[in-house]
Order: sequence, then structure tokens, then C-alpha cells
Amino acid sequence: MAWIDVADRNALRAAGRLVVRVDGRQILLVDTEQGLFATANRCPHEGYPLSEGTLAGCTLTCNWHNWKFDLSSGETLVGGDKLTRYPLRVEAGRIWLDLTEIPPAERRAAVLAGLVQALRDRDQQRQLRETARLGRLGTKPVDAVRVALAWADERLEYGTTHAFAAIPDWLRLQADPTLPADARLMALGEILGHIGDDVAGAEAKFGFATETQAWDAQRFLAAIEREDEAQAVGLLRGALAQPAWPSDLAATLFAAALDHYADFGHSLIYTTQTLRLIGRLGPDVAEPALLALARALVYAQREDLLPEFRDYRPRRDAWWQSGDAPALDAVAFRRTSAKQAMAIIAAWAPSHPPAAIFAVLVEAAAWQLLHADQPFLDSIDQKLSENVGWLDFTHGLTFAAAGLDAVEADPSLWPALLLQLACFIGRNSRYVDPELATEPWRVTGVQPFLADATQRVTNHGQGRFIFSAHLIKTLFAAIELAEAVPAAAPTVLAATNRFLQAPLRGRNPRRTARQMLAFVAEE
Ligand code: FES
Repeated sequence: MAWIDVADRNALRAAGRLVVRVDGRQILLVDTEQGLFATANRCPHEGYPLSEGTLAGCTLTCNWHNWKFDLSSGETLVGGDKLTRYPLRVEAGRIWLDLTEIPPAERRAAVLAGLVQALRDRDQQRQLRETARLGRLGTKPVDAVRVALAWADERLEYGTTHAFAAIPDWLRLQADPTLPADARLMALGEILGHIGDDVAGAEAKFGFATETQAWDAQRFLAAIEREDEAQAVGLLRGALAQPAWPSDLAATLFAAALDHYADFGHSLIYTTQTLRLIGRLGPDVAEPALLALARALVYAQREDLLPEFRDYRPRRDAWWQSGDAPALDAVAFRRTSAKQAMAIIAAWAPSHPPAAIFAVLVEAAAWQLLHADQPFLDSIDQKLSENVGWLDFTHGLTFAAAGLDAVEADPSLWPALLLQLACFIGRNSRYVDPELATEPWRVTGVQPFLADATQRVTNHGQGRFIFSAHLIKTLFAAIELAEAVPAAAPTVLAATNRFLQAPLRGRNPRRTARQMLAFVAEE
């Protein structure tokens, strides 16, 4: 379509504004002191008619939410998305419009620019609008995630965040053809919104070292150990520069993640999820994703330096030598410290295969989540040193599922994985209610549970992305664990079912106030 005759000039002069319809499009014609203009009549915010707006000079205000558009420049002065405008000319008393379609590449570039602005503004409605527009342009909507990763890359002060850790799981939903379009778009919206939140306000000033060094696994591990980000990044760049990834790259990343009981298990979870993310989106996201991971590994808090977890490394290093081998028993973990839990499994090591110990630990971690003491989790009485919540319990499962990838890449990592799982179980064991009635949470099988849980997570009511990220991560971790450890499946699924329906609290302001009063009183 090119130039077409749409209206009489005198009619527009008399009315001031007119709406014409062409091929299903509503177009607004406006007569201003600065000339005539033609725009889409649907406001790019929520679609209300701009013909009902207020005109002041050349500025048109949509009266629904006060977005303002400069008709002469096309700029959106207040609000977000751009207003579509059409070239206009007057000929022999008639108004003609050029309705030639904008080339798809140009429209796509505009949508991607809008998406980046929406990330910057943390405007989730617009993130979804622009992603939906990508789909209408014939571009894969998942490309929005690639754009978000690239945009976030230099804004991640401490590397990988929880937003990244949830991406592969949300992408599983996005790729599920049995789900309705809104649920699949919602999954992308969770990714984009969470990335936008995690880097909120950060300037693009946290770029990575650019030097490339020849890949060497031992040097990489040493660099992470001494918190030398520049060298770790240089070595990773060297690995990525090879025509094919070095065969030991994944195993080395897992080894780095498990070298300490680090960051409440995030190091391992981030490593597994980063590799899965690259597997889903392709090698073009490998560099931003892996460099962010290297930074996260460098910055990870080494919790095994704390007294409670200090036995981790000695027990790992002596794993295959320790003494008696009592029978495996998940009940043994119900009330233990981290030290005791590590001692228990170290005693099992000589005569029980790692996978069998893993199964017992998974059962124990799931039992804890199933019996989490909710009144205590919500209590204002928690001490600063406790501060335990629902998400802490889920980490036993998400960490275990992430560990399956680690030991598949390198079976020598079993002791590290098992001992760290024991640490989780030890730290959570004080906050369970063994008498809790758990029958209501039992489920009848993996597939019915997955169908029901998918409905829940795609229609969750969580205000904070950190919670929805844990819902989706725990759900898929549970499915993986139920398949890998069938004996633990009933407890794993029941525990996850309970968590998915738990009344999660975003904040506990009175507890925080109480903790700060106590802290300041002892300064
Ligand atoms: S619909 Fe126009 S500003 Fe919201």
C-alpha cells in the first residue's frame, strides 16, 4: 500500500480531528497550528483512543494515563512506547496518507530499542508488549532474552544473579507448545522483568577484562581461588576462542563451584543453570553468560570458612578413607548440625555408593521442606544469625538437582556434592516441625503434579521476582530429582507441592527492626 486518499481537508479543518479507518487500522488526523498530522489512533500504552486526548500546540495527551506525544517529532514526551505516525500530504483539497509498511528490519530494530528502554525502566508491561511485537514481526520472541542478556552484561557488578538461574526453567515453559500463548509469553516476561530488577539502576560500567589467555583448567581454578577475576575471565575467553570448547571446561566450572561450600549453594546452581542456558539459547550467549559466572564464582562467599561448615574441606579430602559404615538412614538427619550431618555421611562413604548416599540426602532435604516450621519462618523472633525462610529450604532441592549435572561431568565431585548437601540439611534441621500433618500435600504422580504446578507457577501472585524464580526452579528441580531418585519422589513432590502453595512473605519489617535494635544495643 502507498499513498491513499483518506479524507476531505475542509472536513478536518471543521472538526479539528478525525478518525479514519483503512484496512482495519484506525488513524487519527489532527489539525494543529503547526500543521496536519496522522498517527495511530490507539494509544501505544493500553490502546485507548487518542482522538479523545487533549491537544496543546503540537502535544497530544492521552487522557487515560497522561502519556504525551509530540506530533511533530514523533517523540513520546511522557510515557514509553513510540507513537506510530504516517506521512501526510494535501492535494486538491484531499488528505492523502502514505501507508507503506515500514520494512520489517526497521520495525524490529525499533522494537528491540523499545525493549532495552523497558528493561532500563523496569516497565514490565512494555517488556511484554515489545516481546509480543517481536513475535508478530516473525522474530522468535525468545530473542528478547538474548537482548536482555547482552544489555545486562556490563551491569552485573557481582556477576550472575538469580534471574539468570531461573532462565532455563522459564524457557522450558516458553517452549512448551501445549501451553497457551499467554503462559508462554508470561515465562519470557518473568525472565525480562527479573533481569531488569537485578540490574536496576546500574550503569554499564562493570565490563570484563578483555585480555585472552590460553585455556588451562588448573590456572582457572587457581584464579578463582585467589579471587583473581581478570585472569579467570582471560582464561575463559581463551576457552571460548577455541573452535570447540575444551573437553574439560564444564567439569572445571563445576569443580570451581564446589571447591568451597559457597554462597548458600548458588555457585553450583548458577554453574548448572548457566550451562543449561547456553544449551537452550546457543553459543552466542556463551560469552556474556560465562564471564558473569566467573565473576560470581570469584565473589562467592566461602561459607566453609565459618565454624559450622569448617569440616567441609577436610572431610572432602579424606572422603574415601573414613571408618565404619553404618546403614543408610534418612531419619538420622532430622535433627543434626552441619558438622554431624557431614560426619554421618563421611562414615557411610567407604561402603555405600555415592548415588545411594545422594538418594538419602535428597529424601532428607525434601522431608525438611515438607516439615518446614512455618510459624517460625514468619516469626518476628528470629535472630539476625538465623534469618531463615522458605527459600532456604528449597535450596536443598535445587542444589541437589544442579549437582546431578556436576557429577555427570566429573564423578570425582561426588564427595563435594554430598558434603555440601549435608551442610544444607544441617543448617535447616533446627527449623522443622516433625509433628506437622503433611498428608494434604501428598500428590498422586509426577505428571498430574506437573500439570497442576505449571498452572500455579504461570499464574503466581508473587510481587518479587526472587520468589517466582524459586517457584519455577524448585518445581523443575523436583521433577528431575523425582526421576533420578524414585524412592524419594513422594517426599520430593509433596514438599514441592507444599512450597508452591506456601504463603511466602516478601519482607518481615518488624523482625528486621527488632534485629537492628538488638544489634545496635550491643555495639
Ligand atoms: S492508554 Fe494512553 S496513556 Fe494509557
